[in-house]
Amino acid sequence: MNCVEVREGIYFVGAADWNVRSFHGYSTNRGATYNAYLIIDEKITLIDTVKAPFAEELIRRISDIIDPSKIDYVVSNHVEMDHSSGIPAIMEVAKNAVIVTSAPSGLKGLQAHYGSDYNYMAVKAGETLSIGKRSLAFVATPMLHWPDNMVTYCPEEKILFSNDAFGQHFASSKHFDVDVNLEEVYQEAKKYYANILMLYGKQAAKALEIVRTLDLEMICPSHGIIWTKHIAEILDKYEEFATGKAKDKAIIVYDSMWHSTEKMAHAILEGFAKKGVETKLYDLKENHISDIMTEVLDAKYIAVGSPTLNNTMMPTVAGFLCYMEGLHPENKKAFAFGSYGWGGQAVVKIQDKLKEIGCEIICDPIKTTYIPSEEVLNTIETSIETLI
Ligand code: FEO
Repeated sequence: MNCVEVREGIYFVGAADWNVRSFHGYSTNRGATYNAYLIIDEKITLIDTVKAPFAEELIRRISDIIDPSKIDYVVSNHVEMDHSSGIPAIMEVAKNAVIVTSAPSGLKGLQAHYGSDYNYMAVKAGETLSIGKRSLAFVATPMLHWPDNMVTYCPEEKILFSNDAFGQHFASSKHFDVDVNLEEVYQEAKKYYANILMLYGKQAAKALEIVRTLDLEMICPSHGIIWTKHIAEILDKYEEFATGKAKDKAIIVYDSMWHSTEKMAHAILEGFAKKGVETKLYDLKENHISDIMTEVLDAKYIAVGSPTLNNTMMPTVAGFLCYMEGLHPENKKAFAFGSYGWGGQAVVKIQDKLKEIGCEIICDPIKTTYIPSEEVLNTIETSIETLI
């Protein structure tokens, strides 16, 4: 196995999951990596592990550098199993290792997953651990995105092991930001934030404040590419994400049965476009909700459309709204639209849900019966022009 030395004495020992295409519902079209890092010092330290099916690969990579039984510390920055489910396999070979985790949530979480028999060391925010010529400082980042999350800073190396933060689901044979297509990586970093961290913007902003005080030469996340030359850029992007900074951009999301709601979606698109607003249109039959949510992150407007089906909206639209409710995007101006034959309950229910999510409703639902005529479509287009 190729050993990847990210800094003298510090190695990438994680694994790429090239063909994974779903992370509990989030579409991972470029695969994923579970990054773990081995630090060779007086105390041999492993930062995070990997998802259980990749534990053998982790151990093989470590074995190319040292005898894994010599590991003294396993730092678990986050209990979620994509990083921790390799712990039992590691502890099987490194029987004397101490698992370092956050107090109290990390300890509680790891014990709930893997039992209480291992040697645990629960550390509080601000505590440091000497591992020889280097030290590790633990920075709590609770609810980014679990209660246990922490990041680990090595001041002697100016490296932050950031776990989920600044990560991307991006499988690559290259490991550094300078060696890959950066636009793809930024896109995946945005998608990661939108689908995993968006709900926790306040916590992200707080963590970012702390990270900005650190002297940094490298950010080693537990997913994707390592940041070296583009640290300032990824920090600035997180600043924008966390503050909910919106562009003059509209997202139109809909499903349609017989193309009537679809025609309305296109009329709405024309209205926005005429006002110079960058607009993107997504048919829920053809697009994944996690890709749409990536675009919602920095959009000012969102229009959600559905025909009325059995007195309510279509299930695809309900699923999208449920997903959006969980992620709770901030600062969105929104409205509902849709065609109906009779009843017309869908648009009312969509509007109610948009309100619940916290969107500002900027107009009454736009609705039409059966097939919208050219005149109706022109009216819709004009109404959008006058609305913004
Ligand atoms: Fe990558 Fe929250 O786990």
